[in-house]
Amino acid sequence: MKPPPESAAPERTAMRTSRHQRISHRYMRDRWKDFLAQDTRGMLMIEGVAVDRIIEKYGTPLYVMVESEIRRRARRFKKVFGQGINLQYAVKCNSNLEILRLMREEGFDLDCSSVGELILGLLADFKPRQLTFTNLYKTEQDLHFAAKIGVQSITADSIEDIEQIARTAKKLKKHIDTVIRVNPMLQIGHYSTRNNKYGIPIGYIDRAVELARRSPFVDFQGFHFMGGYVHNPRVFKAAARVFVKLIKRYQDEGIRIKTLSLGGGFPAAIGDDEAFPIEAMRDFPRYFDRLLRRHNVQPFRLIFEPGKSIVLNAGIGLMKVISKKRLGLNKRMVIADGSTYNFVPDAIIQDGVQYDILPASQMNSRRIHTVTIAGNTCDAWDLITKGIEMPKLRAGDLLAVMDVGAYAQVMASNFNTIKRASVVMIYPDGSTKPIRRRDRYSDMFAPELDVLKLAGPNELERYNNIYRVNIDKIWRGNQKKNGKSGNGFSVSAKGSNGSGKEGQNDVAGSMMSSVKETERANALS
Ligand SMILES: Cc1ncc(COP(=O)(O)O)c(C=O)c1O
Repeated sequence: MKPPPESAAPERTAMRTSRHQRISHRYMRDRWKDFLAQDTRGMLMIEGVAVDRIIEKYGTPLYVMVESEIRRRARRFKKVFGQGINLQYAVKCNSNLEILRLMREEGFDLDCSSVGELILGLLADFKPRQLTFTNLYKTEQDLHFAAKIGVQSITADSIEDIEQIARTAKKLKKHIDTVIRVNPMLQIGHYSTRNNKYGIPIGYIDRAVELARRSPFVDFQGFHFMGGYVHNPRVFKAAARVFVKLIKRYQDEGIRIKTLSLGGGFPAAIGDDEAFPIEAMRDFPRYFDRLLRRHNVQPFRLIFEPGKSIVLNAGIGLMKVISKKRLGLNKRMVIADGSTYNFVPDAIIQDGVQYDILPASQMNSRRIHTVTIAGNTCDAWDLITKGIEMPKLRAGDLLAVMDVGAYAQVMASNFNTIKRASVVMIYPDGSTKPIRRRDRYSDMFAPELDVLKLAGPNELERYNNIYRVNIDKIWRGNQKKNGKSGNGFSVSAKGSNGSGKEGQNDVAGSMMSSVKETERANALS
């Protein structure tokens, strides 16, 4: 599958303007030093571009991904692990096509957790043999697809998963390269995999390997470890020791082991949480080689699958303050136009996570009081961060939620039927490129409109006619030549290709065009 031709891709827009200065240490963290600054007005700058200029073009809420930081982190991994270790980017943490393309350029393969992610990998121009498929359960159709395109390997997570792979491979008469995911039941200080949902507990591994080897169309390749969030490099060494001994035992029985993946889970910092730098793994390749020699183990391919540690700190969420409320003597709430559900879901999913939020348009101001920053959805739980020190903020001020490059964009939902934010990539020369447009109503409604369409050819028409409302007309008003709608909204001519600032109005039209297309299809059917 080829990517779209160059001409179809959005163009980069040059944006760099004013001179910049260093951000005061009260707001700055070391991990942002390569791409954050501020201008003389106290406006936050990303790669030398003031954020008010960015949102003038793209609107809020908005994710900005810093290209140089993604590459820098990918290269740090490459440097630490060297040529001998294969690196696979974990697509699940941020599956944006442009980021996948970047990872390909940086020499990474991909670890995919669904057929959807395999397809994204192909769209980003990876070869099927550069894709591994690791999750807890695969349908027959999933396996058919993965086997047919010829992925590097499929990882089985349970005995039932191996049985399913064996059944399907036999039915398809297609050999499937299979890796078994093992829970080594590690306990190192506070770190434990004992309650981990991933993998087959090590005590059952003989049974699993035997089952795989007995199945005529399952080609057993080796093992996979994914131990969740690892907070100490010692854990990877301990896992390596367990797996090398396990592999030695099988090699002694004459079983060939071709691969071992030690997974991802490298920590990345949010807020005050400290993460060990990847450089703390610098001695790992040598340690691993020594381990192989000591146990007289035949070499095999060693893989790591980092995800969030590459993209998390390269993502910034920009929001606007929409109101502020005083809730008693010392209680202040600021409401922003982003939310936990649509923008930074980790704040709800991960108990206690406290994002750094910078007063992006007030970087010269001192923090004077404690506020809670709430999201804009109609849900009382939607609090982006509680008890953060901030300067005095007013409606229209900008806020930057830091470290949202992983697991935020992919987990954001349409709760309250709100569109998820668009994403732009920013480059070292200050140019920007949209890499995901804001949702459209048509994207959100299609699954339900499609059901109506299936219910009967006239159903949708009746549905639209109940209130005799022409949504499209009301939304757009009577368009005037100057591009202003009758309602006074400006209608973006570029809305649908994602390059313009996408308000609400341009997309309502898309929704109606989809309704019209559906009606047209009904008329034809
Ligand atoms: C199989 C596998 N590999 C890699 C990762 C990436 O982990 P992280 O984003 O924590 O580096 C995950 C995360 O869940 C995973 O399940």
